[in-house]
Amino acid sequence: MRKTSIHVARIMGLLASALLVACGNSSSSKVVVSTPAPLPAPIETLQGQCTDKPWMLVSASPDARANSLLACMTADEKASLLGGDDAVGVLGQSATDPHTGTSLGVTRLGIPTVYFTDGPVGVRQGSATAMPAPVALAASFDAALAREYGAVLGNEAKFKGNDAILGPCVDIVRNPLAGRTFETYGEDPLLSRRIGVGWINGVQGEGVIANAKHFAGNNQEPNRNVLDAVIDARTLHEIYLPAYEGAVKDAKVGTVMCAYNSINGAFMCENKPLLSDVLRGEWGFTGYVLSDYPATHSTAPSLNAGLEFELPSTAFYSVQNINAAVASGSLKQTTVDQAVLRILRTHFAFGVFDRPRYKNDDAQIDKTGHAAVAQKVAERGMVLLKNSTSLLPLNALTTRSIALIGRDATIHKTAGSPSSGRVTAFSAVTPQQGFATRAPNITLTVDDGNIVARAASVAAAAEVAIVFVSSDEREFADRPCMSLMCSQPAYGDQDALVRAVAAANPRTVVVVISGSPVLMPWLTAVPAVIQGWYMGQQGGAALARLVFGDVNFSGKLPMTFWAADADTPTAGNIARYPGTPGSTVAGASFTATHSEGIFVGYRWADANNKTPQFPFGFGLSYTSFAYENLRVRASGATVTVRNTGQRAGRETAQLYMALPAPSAAVAQAPWALKGFESVELLPGESRDISFALDDRAFSYWDASSKGWKIAPGCYRLRAGDSSRDLRLAPTSLALGGGSCP
Ligand code: BGC
Repeated sequence: MRKTSIHVARIMGLLASALLVACGNSSSSKVVVSTPAPLPAPIETLQGQCTDKPWMLVSASPDARANSLLACMTADEKASLLGGDDAVGVLGQSATDPHTGTSLGVTRLGIPTVYFTDGPVGVRQGSATAMPAPVALAASFDAALAREYGAVLGNEAKFKGNDAILGPCVDIVRNPLAGRTFETYGEDPLLSRRIGVGWINGVQGEGVIANAKHFAGNNQEPNRNVLDAVIDARTLHEIYLPAYEGAVKDAKVGTVMCAYNSINGAFMCENKPLLSDVLRGEWGFTGYVLSDYPATHSTAPSLNAGLEFELPSTAFYSVQNINAAVASGSLKQTTVDQAVLRILRTHFAFGVFDRPRYKNDDAQIDKTGHAAVAQKVAERGMVLLKNSTSLLPLNALTTRSIALIGRDATIHKTAGSPSSGRVTAFSAVTPQQGFATRAPNITLTVDDGNIVARAASVAAAAEVAIVFVSSDEREFADRPCMSLMCSQPAYGDQDALVRAVAAANPRTVVVVISGSPVLMPWLTAVPAVIQGWYMGQQGGAALARLVFGDVNFSGKLPMTFWAADADTPTAGNIARYPGTPGSTVAGASFTATHSEGIFVGYRWADANNKTPQFPFGFGLSYTSFAYENLRVRASGATVTVRNTGQRAGRETAQLYMALPAPSAAVAQAPWALKGFESVELLPGESRDISFALDDRAFSYWDASSKGWKIAPGCYRLRAGDSSRDLRLAPTSLALGGGSCP
């Protein structure tokens, strides 16, 4: 309540100062006028100022400029800025209307039209650089690489004429079956936060507005539009919100997309507790909220809750609806003004008014440079899951023949069709092409794997067999189970294919192309497994370099790879997932209760003694690393990592903490990720890796005081190369007046 009134006071103050700026500078020679043509007859009392367009004074603050512009707008003009103007852009790929969304400007006032495009994997407009799936980026555990990834997308969005890009997707993987898992950064809030922040910085560094989506609790596809997700405040703050908080506080994201679902009784696009109290009140968000396509449910309640902009078009935010709501008293004109201000101040802050329109012209794009980033991310993101006989790396000089088996050996496998995660690549290197280019002297045989017996005999005839299996993932549907048979039935029994190939050739490597964990019932039968993710357009080249050891594996799993469907937090509990029919929320007919609380991913596995197929944070290398000498202070921890193998390699050291539970009702996960850093080490080289720790790292969300608290007690820390690496004994630290045994 107090925060709200402070906020209103601040707005009023800004309004007053903006008008001063507007009046004081009306004759300034610094005024930049975008259109020299005289304006029509002045409309308001600020006639002179309006004619001079004082909001074009670039030295004034975005808030001041937005306020001075607002003062010159008619009610209709204001309302017209609150909704999208292109209902079909979402279909994408149209030559005449290639953007995903459009907000028409107001010519009279020089307000520019603003264009939006999808999405988190690459620009969904014509052809673009097809990046590896975001989940592969997360596997790099590297925010600097995320920034490079974001910069590619921001740059291409810009050179395709867009002002904003609808990404990143920082939803947490609650359930590995979720169809959009590949678009995310995995199951851990700290990892998602850091990767998301890097990505947004990359995009916004290109002068393009990023969009953190889908706020919040957008955890499943089935019934998502009619689903009330029941999530307690602590779980929201500790698991589902930190990546959004980072987007707002650390990266100053320009826009946030409210999700389709409802949380705790209110649809996200009219969820005042989250849109106003948390997003703006707790975090100080100064951008604007736009709706998913279409996730708006109302006019006045949504505007009152904090949704500023409806996409893709104006089902609820039409000029007529807004004017009618104001006339009826259900919506105040000041609320409309505030929404307009937030949109305008964001566009001023991002320079939309001060630059020529971005031109939609692919010729401006550095395709070669961007392909190099796509390849780097693929190389850094693929995860070596198994290499038991040191089958890998293959020697490109001595290997004589390789059989490439499976349909995806000869294509660039993508996910996400037909929606925001789909990208049509500028060009692509298939695995077959990658191997042929890297090792032209090796005889490559190819078999699509459709006839298992034939594939086995092709495998038997080659020195090494590489078999590609894949899963098909997208918006609109979750996978029914984690087995490959569920993931992509059209490919037939891929598990049987792997078994047959492995039986025919003991030197078999499996490459899994998926955005989420798949079950590997053949794991003991094969010596080597690579989690390739959706590799992006340079995937074939990246894979070949990794397989031949030109570059070492360094990717780590950003989510638990479960051993069985029954092991996941939501398994066997339909009230959790997919939810049960019935809801107290008007418009929602399903309820999904997140009663597992904070126990998502490895937190669940650790607390319930589930042994994963591969744990969170896991990934092998062609070299080996030793961890020594963990030193812990309240402000941070340091561990020494040594390359004990024969090759140079990159290691991502991870710091996990066991927090004391303040009470039985506030259970803590056995271990939670609190830091990660990666380092390149030559053979024999060692380096100290430091992890900064702030108060938040030691805190839990206290629902009763609605704040972060440090429980008195003993905090144990350990460092290692995965969530299950217990090589180093934990080191303890007493805090908050507590003590350690
Ligand atoms: C998706 C968003 C996407 C939008 C526009 C929606 O269905 O949830 O992620 O940006 O469509 O394509």
